[in-house]
Amino acid sequence: MKLKDTLAENSFDYAYLSKRIYKYIKPYLFRIILSLCIALPVGALDGVIAYALKPYMDEVLIKKNMILAYLIPFGIVAFAMLQGVLRYLNDYLTSWTGQKVTNDVKKALFQKLVQMDPKFYDENSSGIILTRFLSDPETASKGVLDNLKALMGSGIGAFALIGVMLYNSWKLALVGVVVLCVAFIPAALIRKRIKSASNENMKIGGNITTDFNETCAGNKIITSYNLAQHQYNKFSKEIHDSFDVNMSLVKRVAWMSPIMYTIASFGIAFVLAFGTYLVLSGQMTSGSLLSFVTSLLLLYKPVKTLGNTLTGLQTIFVSMCRTFELFDLMPEIESKENAVEINGVKDGVTLEHVCFEYVEDIPVLKDINLQAKVGETVAIVGNSGGGKTTIANLIPRFYDVKSGAIKIDGIDIRDIKLESLRNNISVVFQDNFLFSGTIKENLLMGNFNATDDDIDRVVRAAHLDEFLEEMPDGLNSELGERGTTLSGGQRQRVAIARAMLKDAPIVILDEATSALDNKSEAIVQKALDNLMQNKTVFVIAHRLSTIKNADKIAVINEGELVELGTHDELLCRENGFYKKLYEMQFAKSSVGVTQ
Ligand SMILES: Nc1ncnc2c1ncn2[C@@H]1O[C@H](COP(=O)(O)OP(=O)(O)OP(=O)(O)O)[C@@H](O)[C@H]1O
Ligand SMILES: [Mg+2]
Repeated sequence: MKLKDTLAENSFDYAYLSKRIYKYIKPYLFRIILSLCIALPVGALDGVIAYALKPYMDEVLIKKNMILAYLIPFGIVAFAMLQGVLRYLNDYLTSWTGQKVTNDVKKALFQKLVQMDPKFYDENSSGIILTRFLSDPETASKGVLDNLKALMGSGIGAFALIGVMLYNSWKLALVGVVVLCVAFIPAALIRKRIKSASNENMKIGGNITTDFNETCAGNKIITSYNLAQHQYNKFSKEIHDSFDVNMSLVKRVAWMSPIMYTIASFGIAFVLAFGTYLVLSGQMTSGSLLSFVTSLLLLYKPVKTLGNTLTGLQTIFVSMCRTFELFDLMPEIESKENAVEINGVKDGVTLEHVCFEYVEDIPVLKDINLQAKVGETVAIVGNSGGGKTTIANLIPRFYDVKSGAIKIDGIDIRDIKLESLRNNISVVFQDNFLFSGTIKENLLMGNFNATDDDIDRVVRAAHLDEFLEEMPDGLNSELGERGTTLSGGQRQRVAIARAMLKDAPIVILDEATSALDNKSEAIVQKALDNLMQNKTVFVIAHRLSTIKNADKIAVINEGELVELGTHDELLCRENGFYKKLYEMQFAKSSVGVTQ
């Protein structure tokens, strides 16, 4: 699925949303309900003050009742203090539950993210993935509780004030409530606009994050090609796009608030006129009118908050719906239900009529048949872009074959548990990736149970010791992000050592020694020979030293297996692909290579 093509189609299907969010809210339900209950008296303060004005005016100011003159202000202060304590509790509880729910959602999403297959990462840029996995869940889970709290507080506030209004004069109150309902109509009309603007903003946010990532990762290219201005222009265009989207939303949404004000001002004007008439004709005391008008004016704040909360909730619902879309993502490559475990390889690995394409109808591998027996090394050579790395990608099931099958000891790899399959394969990639952290931590990723002796052994075998001695903290030296503080050859040696530590029965080496100088390569090659002993090995290489000693050489040209045989056999073929490749490439590069 392409993350930027979100529909968020259930954004306003409230039953759907509440059903799905309930799962995450359920563990904290008691605390959430408690915090909402605490919100009840918190919202009621304004109502209490407005209510108190009637007796204060009628009894204290007009009838001069001095007891009430002390009691009423005292009561108001006492209530406000109680409210302060409750507000503290309420804030604490809502933040607590809000963060807990957010963390749960984030953890569940991260688990999803690490399970996704390479195709997902091919299709989606890092920016869009980050934006969707970081911002939506945060907005959704934190926002929903904050807004519920605001909704509850303001709802109760409004409710209490309307109660006071009703108590003072139901006729006037009726006018107020009708005006209020009319004022709310615009809020309901803007939902669709919010959704489309929010989706649009997410896409732009994704592009911006990708730009940031590329600026960090590609800083050397940017510097050497003088791309700073180009990169800056790209960034400012995106910022501008984001500005346009936001402004178009503001243009379409911001009229809502003035309209609500205007409607409300009509209400107040009418209430004042009608109220004066009621007082003058003796149907209402002046205390009641004072209390009523105060309630009406105080009602402004909770109503405004309610309006904002309702608009805010609509944004949150869109984020929530997009978050649920992420939960619905399914990795295409999964273990079958009745998948088996394998423990080592007894016979070998076979590719049977393997066809594969990354993009539909653009075949990359065409009917490949290849076998590597235990103890055998199969070298794969061929033109750049021919499909060598792709073969290496298919064996650990980064992608699934389109047709045909890859089998280990006769078992289709799609019938093997993914974890077990991958436990049995060590890969050294063409573009090695190291994590930030120490060299030792990177090595241990190959095998967390490795002892210090094991590490010592692979460090020596992969020829790491020589440069480790020069590093200030040796094995505990910190690497930059992606291992940038090491040289290409050093990174490659760390990757080889990591694979050695894993010590899996199937070994795939994709140009594993391409960045090493001849001397290091010769030494590391010896170590690799050790690593390869009694293993089933696929080695993609362009160095004659590696290829020559292989048991079989498979020549892949434009996705087809065009030749298969030993070095000597293939060299004997007149006009053969390998012979040509050898003459063009290896003969030259082998000069001076220790063989
Ligand atoms: N993730 C991908 N999505 C789409 N196409 C891809 C992907 N990876 C590789 N390809 C395409 O598949 C073809 C084979 O690529 P592959 O990486 O297997 O070549 P290769 O033989 O390893 O080349 P090289 O010797 O340059 O490493 C190429 O045409 C490449 O453009
Ligand atoms: Mg390759």
